[in-house]
Order: sequence, then C-alpha cells, then structure tokens
Amino acid sequence: MSNKSFVVITLVLVALIVYLFASAPPPLAETSSPTATIPIETVFTIVEAENDVVRGLWTQEIVSAGKEVGLAFNEEWRSREVEAGPLPALFLRETAGSLERNPISLGLFLGSDFPINEANLLAGQQAEMFTRIQGTQEPQFFFAEDTGLYVAMFSDVAITEGCVKCHNEHRQSPKNDWQLGDVMGATTWSYPKESVTLDELLAIMEALRQGVRDAYSAYLAEVETFTNRPEIGERWPAEGYYLPSVDVFMAEVSQLASAHSMNMILGLDSQPTSFYVQEQTTK
Ligand code: HEC
Repeated sequence: MSNKSFVVITLVLVALIVYLFASAPPPLAETSSPTATIPIETVFTIVEAENDVVRGLWTQEIVSAGKEVGLAFNEEWRSREVEAGPLPALFLRETAGSLERNPISLGLFLGSDFPINEANLLAGQQAEMFTRIQGTQEPQFFFAEDTGLYVAMFSDVAITEGCVKCHNEHRQSPKNDWQLGDVMGATTWSYPKESVTLDELLAIMEALRQGVRDAYSAYLAEVETFTNRPEIGERWPAEGYYLPSVDVFMAEVSQLASAHSMNMILGLDSQPTSFYVQEQTTK
C-alpha cells in the first residue's frame, strides 16, 4: 500500500471511528468534536502487532536473507571497525531510543529474567508479571505505582532454533538451557494515560513508525561506511547483495501492518501476533 492510500484510508477511518466510538452515535453532522476514547490496552495491542511485523521483517528479510549474501549482524555493529548491522534485539533498542527522544511518551523495552545484557533485566513488578506470562503466555496489562505509567507486557518466545542457539552459546548469557518455545523475554510498553483519543492513537502509531524509520536509517548510515557497499534501492537481500532504501523498507512495513492495525482499531481482529508469517507464506 502506498503512503497516500494509507493516509486516505486513515482519513476515512477517522470519520468512521469517531462515529463508532462516540458513546451514543449522534447524527453524523454532530461528530465534529469527538470525545471518543480508546483504552490503552487496545493501543498497546496495536503497537505490539506493528512492532511484531517490523521484527519479523527485520529478522527474516534483512538479517537471515542478508547473511546468505554476505551481510553481517552483531553486537559491535556501531563500531567503525566492524562492518555489520544490528541484531533484532538491538534494532528494537534503536527504535526504543528514537521513541525516548519523541515528545509522545510511549516507552518500549525488551526485558528478560536471564538477559545477555544486564541492562535488559526485568525488575520489581515487571519481574513478577513476567512469571505470570511464562505460565500463561498471555499479555499482562497493569498500572505501575512506582512510575505512574500504564504498562503492557507481551511474551517474546523462542520461535526458532536460532534464538535458542545464539543465547545458549553467548559468552555473556547467564542461562544456557533455553529451549524452543520458551518465553525468553517480554516486550514491555508504557504510556502515562489510561485511554487516548483517536488523534492520540494516530500520533502514537506515527511515533513508532518514526522510531522504526530512525532505526533503519541508522543501519543504512553504517552501511555507507562499508568497504563493499550493497546497492541500496528497490531490491532486498533475497535477490542478492542489495538493501531496500528507507522508503522501500517503510512501505513494506506499512503494507504488512496497516490493514491489520485498522482491523484492530475497528475491533475486527484482536490477535496481536503471527499474521506476519501468514502474509509471508501467502506471498
Ligand atoms: C545471533 C544471536 C542472537 C539471536 C539469533 C537472537 N538473539 Fe536475542 N539477543 C542477542 C543479544 C546479543 C542480545 C543482547 C542485546 C543487547 O545488548 O541489548 C539479545 C537480547 C535479547 C532479549 C533481551 C534480553 C537479553 O537477553 O538481553 C530477548 C528477550 C531476546 N534477545 C530474545 C530473542 C528471541 C526470542 C530470539 C529469536 C526470535 C533471539 N533473541 C534471537 C542475540 C541473539
């Protein structure tokens, strides 16, 4: 889907949602001052699904396909001497860093009880909630008294042998017996309000998309310094030693995520995960 059609569909939706969410649907002419509120749980579920799309796209189409054609990905990717890109967890960290600089107060953090990086250790109430997630794999929504923030935690599961193998073998990993299907961590979101207006929801989604754009741009800036630079443009690593431009990458994110996010806004779909895989296999 092009950016333009996303905007058009969004505008149509805005009108539609204002109508749908207004407590007693008034005649359409009177919807000019919307008081519609969307619970923060819905917002978190939408951003989680968007982030899931990005993570799937990054992991499969850039990291896995890129390795096949000679691109490298590791922890030292920021270092000038190392010609590499960020691992999935570090791509997420870049996105989270951009969100921190954004005036929209959406927090994002990937934590674990046995993290490779100590900075990713879940503590306090989040650690407690994480044990629940490990039991049920159900997301947890709660209000954190200490920070005054509404929080959502979604399971991050070892879905491939790659997750298990890399973490088990990593010299800094405090746990070496991860197994396929384990809940290895939790994607943790926070926001200061219990509910938002539609405008706020769209601003939050925009902030996340900007975060992803910034993270991908940071990678391409590193790629510019490589001695053997891949061609950057329309093509993807699956086709050879190429990388999509920022706009091409973001257009794919939009195509994979937008329809699903809109369905969730409309309450037509409440499943936050796994549609990325479906999209891929039907391609
Ligand atoms: C090639 C190695 C590698 C692979 C593959 C990998 N990870 Fe990681 N992962 C890391 C590293 C390194 C970090 C620490 C990044 C940092 O410094 O924040 C990390 C961080 C994490 C974290 C945050 C907690 C921590 O350990 O610091 C979670 C949760 C996580 N990974 C889950 C997964 C899952 C689930 C998969 C598979 C879908 C996966 N990882 C695949 C290397 C890997």
